[in-house]
Amino acid sequence: MQIQQNMEGALTARDRVGIQDFVLLDETTEEAFMNNLQKRFSNDLIYTYIGTLLVSLNPYKELDIYNQKQMDIYMGVNFFELPPHIYALADNAYHTMLTEYNNHFILISGESGAGKTEASKKILQYYAVSCPSTTLLNTVRDKMLMSNPVLEAFGNAKTLKNDNSSRFGKYMDIQFDSQGDAVGGHILNYLLEKSRVVHQNHGERNFHIFYQLVEGAGDDLLQRLGLERDCQLYKYLTQGECAIVPSINDRNDWKTVKNALQVININESDNNDLFSIVASVLHLGNLKFSPDGKGLATLSSSSEELRWVSNLLGVEAQKLHEGFTFRKIEAKNDQILSPFTIDHAIYARDALAKAIYGQTFTWLVNRINESMENTDPSRKTVIGLLDIYGFEVFYVNSFEQFCINYCNEKLQQLFIQLTLKAEQEEYEAEGIEWEPVQFFNNKIICDLVEEKHRGIIAILDEECLRPGEATDLTFLERLEDKMANHPHFVTHKLADKMTRKTLERGDFRLLHYAGEVTYCVVGFLDKNNDLLYRNIKDLMCQSKNAIIQECFLTSDSENRKRPETVATQFKSSLLKLTEILMAKEAWYIRCLKSNESKEKGQFDEALIRHQVKYLGLMEHLRVRRAGFAYRRRYDVFLQRYKPLCPATWPHWRGDPAEGVEVLVQHLGYLPNEYKMGRNKIFIRHPRTLYATEDAFEKCKHELATRLQAKYRGYRAKGEFKKQKEAATKIETCWRGVQARKERQKRAWAVKVIKQFIKGYMTRGQAKSTDNSEYLAFVRQHFLSRLKENLPKTVLDKTSWYSPPPVCSETSEILRKLHYRILVRKYVRGITPQRKAQLQLKLVASTLFKGKKESYPQSVAQPFVDTRLNEQDINPRVIQMIRNEHIKYSVPVIKYDRNGFKPRPRQMILTQTAAYLVEEAKIKQRVLYTSLKGISVSSLTDGIVAFHITCEDPKQKGDLVMQCDYLFEFLTKLSIIANKHNAIKVVQGSIKTEVQAGKEGGVDFSIGQEPMVYKGKNGHLMVVTTRTRTR
Ligand SMILES: Nc1ncnc2c1ncn2[C@@H]1O[C@H](COP(=O)(O)OP(=O)(O)OP(=O)(O)O)[C@@H](O)[C@H]1O
Ligand SMILES: [Mg+2]
Repeated sequence: MQIQQNMEGALTARDRVGIQDFVLLDETTEEAFMNNLQKRFSNDLIYTYIGTLLVSLNPYKELDIYNQKQMDIYMGVNFFELPPHIYALADNAYHTMLTEYNNHFILISGESGAGKTEASKKILQYYAVSCPSTTLLNTVRDKMLMSNPVLEAFGNAKTLKNDNSSRFGKYMDIQFDSQGDAVGGHILNYLLEKSRVVHQNHGERNFHIFYQLVEGAGDDLLQRLGLERDCQLYKYLTQGECAIVPSINDRNDWKTVKNALQVININESDNNDLFSIVASVLHLGNLKFSPDGKGLATLSSSSEELRWVSNLLGVEAQKLHEGFTFRKIEAKNDQILSPFTIDHAIYARDALAKAIYGQTFTWLVNRINESMENTDPSRKTVIGLLDIYGFEVFYVNSFEQFCINYCNEKLQQLFIQLTLKAEQEEYEAEGIEWEPVQFFNNKIICDLVEEKHRGIIAILDEECLRPGEATDLTFLERLEDKMANHPHFVTHKLADKMTRKTLERGDFRLLHYAGEVTYCVVGFLDKNNDLLYRNIKDLMCQSKNAIIQECFLTSDSENRKRPETVATQFKSSLLKLTEILMAKEAWYIRCLKSNESKEKGQFDEALIRHQVKYLGLMEHLRVRRAGFAYRRRYDVFLQRYKPLCPATWPHWRGDPAEGVEVLVQHLGYLPNEYKMGRNKIFIRHPRTLYATEDAFEKCKHELATRLQAKYRGYRAKGEFKKQKEAATKIETCWRGVQARKERQKRAWAVKVIKQFIKGYMTRGQAKSTDNSEYLAFVRQHFLSRLKENLPKTVLDKTSWYSPPPVCSETSEILRKLHYRILVRKYVRGITPQRKAQLQLKLVASTLFKGKKESYPQSVAQPFVDTRLNEQDINPRVIQMIRNEHIKYSVPVIKYDRNGFKPRPRQMILTQTAAYLVEEAKIKQRVLYTSLKGISVSSLTDGIVAFHITCEDPKQKGDLVMQCDYLFEFLTKLSIIANKHNAIKVVQGSIKTEVQAGKEGGVDFSIGQEPMVYKGKNGHLMVVTTRTRTR
């Protein structure tokens, strides 16, 4: 970026020499104009503007201003922002075409050697580099670029004016698609100067291709074509005596052309045919005729040249020979061969050479067009490049110069029409105040040449067609008759004394817009007729050379109608060209020649001044200065720039002119910067327009961003709406699905409930369809509830889940089953000890349950094997009863029989007797056989009375004791002594027998504190407490 700026800076600084646009000159004098031109030229600044017109002054030296960097700098930049350059003009035309979507052309004019062809090549190169590219397009582009060297080789030649002078006119359309890609091209060619093929003035050459072929072609090719590598050997190449020129490198150019031919799709066979024709022309030139005895032309039939020509053109040598020496005259039904004089023979030979070369050139143009053609039917816009032979004046000027200069006259006329005249007429039509600028309108000269029936061409044609002896001189006489008083026409006869000195008798002089040119009438008629003898033409139709075959169609040959003359054809082709150009927007490049001697940097003031004059540059400048650089119809202008003003954007409803007024006011146009015409706005300076255009570009981007944002918003909204709608739809559908499901569920539920109710109602009846499901449900329900609530212990007899009637039987069976299982489980889980214990407890239960008040508390107290261990019992006692097995022993309190004194004793139960022991003494032995009863009270006390049989006097009577483990003791006793039935629970007092016959007893009462004492009645008083109910 920095580099570019620097570069541009340097560029601009360098370009500050003089003034870049003549419009900005202080004064519009020729002096000032020339001064500025010279100043810039001496600094190698060859380009200067007059408004949008580009003036280019040929420097005759390579300038480093056509490189890629320069192209980059000029791409897409506004016209006046950078120093004048041909790239700026090319770029501006291109962008205008893209934005306005219309067709354009660039008219490049100037005299021969002024640099038109160079300019057109620069433009083409610029487009080739600057336009967007794709591989496909690159090939089209290559073809366009490569068409140049080929056409230049065949159509350009060294003249005295220019070493590479265009000897044909060329109009090339470059087609662009809407993206601005160069997608195709088409060339129109105009009148090739064919006479050059057979004749060149001194110091001039034939067309380049001949020299290129001889100098550059490989030995093989030369041999095949029968040529030698020496231009001097060929008559057609040596008349100008300058076959070799230092400025031209034919050998290199040959390579370029060969390569270019390949690019434009000329295949090997076409190549062969093409160069066969070129070579045949050279051989033709060397055909020599000699006079026979009667002065008629003869040609040695063994002539090698003739053989080569016949060979290369693929025609019979004999017939060719005949064609050069005889003329076929058709009289009635006969054909007569009339022999030729030498002149005629040479004429016939040259005519053939010119014809085949000319036709081949046209064939080449057609082939190039085919290769560049774009067949896509979509609409394209074009930029046309017109590069035509420039105005030229030689020492001797002939028919060709007449045509060329006429062409330039026409282009000048077009320029005048499009710029000066049209411009001024437009101001008038639009009612814009205007000071008319005088300019020379060359229409008068155009008319002189081309007017129907009266113009030079009409008279020439008349002479050509006139029966009788018409010659070039009779033509001149006719001209003198008709044009006698024309201010732009003069001949020796018509001229005044002074002028007459400068004219030969066979000359006529035209005062062209670009200067006087004296034409020598010799050859005018022949060249205008351009006749090829019939028998030669027919012969060409039979040629085996494909190109010749294509060019000389039998149908054309059989057409007996006389072809249009060359001048008339040329006139109509120029008319068509004018029409083509008038339909397009014009851009102009005016090329000036700096000097006649092609000297680099030489500024030939007189020569340049002359060109400035005749090209009408001063007039153009004046019109530009006084006028307006730009104009547009109000509606078009408004349409383009309306976004720049809030009042006109987005729509202006009123009159477009008023809209434009509002718009330009808003933009701040000064009153002298613009004028409002009837239909158009006129803007004086380009800079005003460019400022507006810049603003528009900026605004366009902003607008685009805004529109984009709007559009995105709109899209997003749309998307959101769509999504929302979709969501609602899905929701609705889903709800529907849900509702349907719900309905089904409900219907099902109703059915189920109904069936349930029916089932419930008929539950008591026998199984039927109505209740079977209900009952099954009830059964299942019952069973699963039952399963969860089964009693956990055998003792739980209450929590059995109560069954519905239908299951009552099952329930009962299950219940029993369950309890059996529980019992089984319980029983299996019991240890032998526990079993024994329980058996004991069972005995205790049968003895005391429901009889003795303290019994319930005892149930939970487990019974033990014995309350006294063997260690607790005195060994002497053990010793004493060692024969009896001790089964159980327990501490007891024994109450004395008299006085009831409590004595702690041990009670030991053996198999046979119960022993009351005090330490080592057995106090009493009660044989179970003598134990007749055992009494306990029904209260909570631990008193037990042994009733003993008193038959044995040793016996001490009944025994009253208190035992803490009463139930255990008595249970064990009942089992050991088998005294189950002897144990009695006594209500009230227990009667005892203290001694035989002496009654005693134990009385019980209930009190606060347990107590034992001797009662007043001599009984033992036992106070017991109530069992505390929990
Ligand atoms: N821009 C340029 N820079 C350098 N040299 C140039 C430039 N333009 C032209 N020349 C020189 O001038 C010579 C003649 O230019 P060119 O062939 O373009 O002339 P022309 O106007 O086409 O002539 P004609 O009418 O004879 O065809 C070129 O061969 C080249 O040497
Ligand atoms: Mg040229």
